[in-house]
This record gives sequence, C-alpha cells and structure tokens, in this order.
Amino acid sequence: MEIQEVISGSERDASSVRDFFNGWTLYRRIVDNDYLYHRSVGEVFSRWLDRMDGPFSFLDLGCGDAEFSSGILSGRPLRSYTGIDLSPVALELAHQNIASLGVPCNLIVGDFLLSLSALPEKYDLIYIGLSLHHLSRQEKEFFFGELRRKVSPGGSLLIFDPVLTPGEARASYLGRWSDHAQWSWKALTVEEVAGAVQHVTTSDFPEELSTLNRMALAAGFHSAEVLFMDRTDFYALMAFQAA
Ligand SMILES: C[S@@+](CC[C@H](N)C(=O)[O-])C[C@H]1O[C@@H](n2cnc3c(N)ncnc32)[C@H](O)[C@@H]1O
Repeated sequence: MEIQEVISGSERDASSVRDFFNGWTLYRRIVDNDYLYHRSVGEVFSRWLDRMDGPFSFLDLGCGDAEFSSGILSGRPLRSYTGIDLSPVALELAHQNIASLGVPCNLIVGDFLLSLSALPEKYDLIYIGLSLHHLSRQEKEFFFGELRRKVSPGGSLLIFDPVLTPGEARASYLGRWSDHAQWSWKALTVEEVAGAVQHVTTSDFPEELSTLNRMALAAGFHSAEVLFMDRTDFYALMAFQAA
C-alpha cells in the first residue's frame, strides 16, 4: 500500500497534534510532575540500555524537546542522534538538550510517518516516545513496516505508549484516563487539565498490546518484551527486536 492511500482515509489531524505540542509549557508541566511516568520509564530504559556494549545510533521519533532521551543517553557509547518532531517549538528546545551528547545530531521538523522512508541510514535503536498512538490503526500498520526497514540487523524498536487493557474499547480507555487526570493531576489548573483531556480525547488512538504485537510480527519484529507497565494500566514501555 502507498503512503498517500494510507493517510487519505485517516481520522488523524496532525495539525491539531502539532498545535497542542507547540504550547510546550503545559506538556512540560505534566512531565515535570511525573504524571506520565517518565521517571520509572527512564530507570527501566536506562537498565535496558546497559545491554548495548558498542557504539549505537539512535533515532528518536516524536522526540519533543529531547529532554527524556538526552537524559538516558548521556554518557553512553552513542554514535549519532536523530530526532523528528512535528513541533518547531519543541525542536528549538531539543537543540539545547542534545548539545551535550557530543555526537553528530540531526533534528528534523515534520511528520515521522512521511519522513521516515527518506532517511538515508538504518538505526541500531529506534525509539517512539508517547507519539505512536496519534496514528490511526491503518497508519500504525503501515508504519511498522517502514520502521522494520530502518532498523539495523540485530537492532531494536522501543515504544513507550498508552495501551488498552485486553478487550477495552477506545471510549472506555479515554473515559478512565480523563477521570484519572481530573482527580489526580492536582498540580495543574482546571483549565490545564481540560486542555490535556481535550487533546487526548481527540488525538489519541491507543491499541492493545496484542494488536501492536500482531503488527510487529507481520513487519518482521519479534513480539514485545514489556519492560514497564504503570500501576494504573495506562502506559507501557515495549522492546521489539528485529527478527
Ligand atoms: C507526548 S510528546 C512526547 C515527547 C517525548 N518523546 C517524551 O516522551 O517526553 C509527543 C511528541 O510527538 C510529536 N508527534 C506526534 N505525532 C507526530 C508525528 N506524526 N510526527 C512527528 N512528531 C509527532 C509531538 O509534536 C510531541 O512533541
């Protein structure tokens, strides 16, 4: 299937996702309060990275301000860092955060679904942090194939994303997520929580782990090793090794 065919039937609105993340301050406050579990995910991801014994290249899709990735990559035998994001505001901040990595870095503004195939190389590690769920199911299906072509032999794809519990419908996930945010994100104003809920309920299309595994297997990855699942059953960090 061609990319144009994949995106033409999509319910995704990339410009609304970009507009939300161009208001980066709200997202930063959500992360700084650890409402999305970056702290635990960072610890688990760091332990996983300890397995990398030689220099590796890292592709960061939906990198945002790259604060999370630059934190876990700092001091490691990195060969290169490439980040792609829709938001120019986030990428402006990313420039500062990746400067200390001390390796060749490349930041690309654009839609990773459209930009990936044009990248000239393959990567030892591809990471997608909290952004795969913005793609429709058909787009994710197509994207897994593209990702497989960009992973080096023996390389891995790591995905940190919301996941539906087995048998859960999107509407019910969004309902329990909105209730959770409204009750427990106490450090934010009512308006800020409402902004986050509006973004999530219009732009998030999470899948079950079994659906992601089916897509991954069809594309030539092994099934996921689930490295982290948060206590409220919203988010998982998954590692898919190239088969
Ligand atoms: C929730 S933030 C995650 C940022 C960072 N990875 C983290 O974990 O903190 C999602 C990021 O993905 C970007 N994004 C969403 N869909 C994208 C797409 N199709 N192409 C490129 N970037 C995308 C957004 O602009 C935003 O910066």
